[in-house]
Amino acid sequence: MSYGYVPTKSLVDEDAPLHPRRRKMLRKGMTPAILTKMETYIRELTDHYISEMAPRGEADLVRDMFFELPALVIFRLMGVPDEDLPRIRKFAKRLSVWGFGNPTEEEQVELCHEIGQYWQYAREHITKLMADPGSDIMSVFITEMQLPENADQYDEHYMYTLMLNLLFAGHETTTNALAGAMRALLENRDQWELLCNDLSLAANAGEESLRYYSSVPHWRRITTKETVLGGVTLPSGATIMMALGSAGRDEAHFPDGDRFDIRRENAKDHLAFGVGRHLCLGAPLARLEMEIVLGELARRLPHMQLVPGQVWEFSPNTSHRGPEHVHVTWDPAQNPLPGDRA
Ligand code: HEM
Repeated sequence: MSYGYVPTKSLVDEDAPLHPRRRKMLRKGMTPAILTKMETYIRELTDHYISEMAPRGEADLVRDMFFELPALVIFRLMGVPDEDLPRIRKFAKRLSVWGFGNPTEEEQVELCHEIGQYWQYAREHITKLMADPGSDIMSVFITEMQLPENADQYDEHYMYTLMLNLLFAGHETTTNALAGAMRALLENRDQWELLCNDLSLAANAGEESLRYYSSVPHWRRITTKETVLGGVTLPSGATIMMALGSAGRDEAHFPDGDRFDIRRENAKDHLAFGVGRHLCLGAPLARLEMEIVLGELARRLPHMQLVPGQVWEFSPNTSHRGPEHVHVTWDPAQNPLPGDRA
């Protein structure tokens, strides 16, 4: 079975002169106006998921909210129509094992078929957007690519790859970040209570949790020339694994770094979104999602508790980390909003 898959470099693997030009094109679809539109949608989704869970008194926050919410947000941003969601939702989770995991030979065959199907979907979707562009990020990118001055950039395979990678970049990272944040907040009950009593701390709680439990703990680089780093000479072409999560605990920058403190003034200095010219393009969106979701959970389910003794499970891969489940309970009779009570 052939899916016509053509491995192509994506934005995050490219260097100048291509990278800055393509990054600029993609950025055009991430304007403050689009972010404002997304804020309304994130609030609607957050309200929907919490309203579903609230009267029940128990949830796995990942299964019941954190897996789907960022997926729906990124799909909307990429112009994927709602009716296609069931078809492509299943690919999202599998991409992390495919790209960063250690699957058995049998799993590799299965994964290749799934990625092949997703590649075909990307091709169909992009063909549709080329014929009838919208205001989503993919349409903006395609339109830019089609401009005469960008004729030297035009590459359909690049667009399919970008589609594949954006789904992943915008989904798994944020699901994991939310799950890590709720684990950190509920494990440090005083910090959860601080947030419940002062919802203006929600944005910094998101930053502190990215520092404390980075959802991208390692990321990659390849040296393009001989480089001296921390007194060590690295040859040209060396593959580097950057420990972004470890940087978040660097005592020289974050005093008492193993303490989770949502009032930490420099929490935002973490490297969870990377560093330098490849700095995460979706950081403003991810930050917004975290602020809204953490703030709303604290407002509507303040007496939520972790199910004691749960075993924290993680997907087996090097770069994407967040608990697979966050089991919580609460007493619905104590929900502060009458409409949330059973
Ligand atoms: C908490 C959530 C997220 C985390 C922790 C995260 C983390 C990262 C990291 C570590 C990088 C590599 C940076 C580097 O090489 O220095 C990256 C790049 C990128 N991320 Fe994110 N990300 C998140 C959410 C998102 C979202 C929601 C989107 C899409 C809207 C997105 C789109 C991208 C893109 C396009 C790049 C490549 C940028 C480039 O190479 O120029 N990310 N992200």
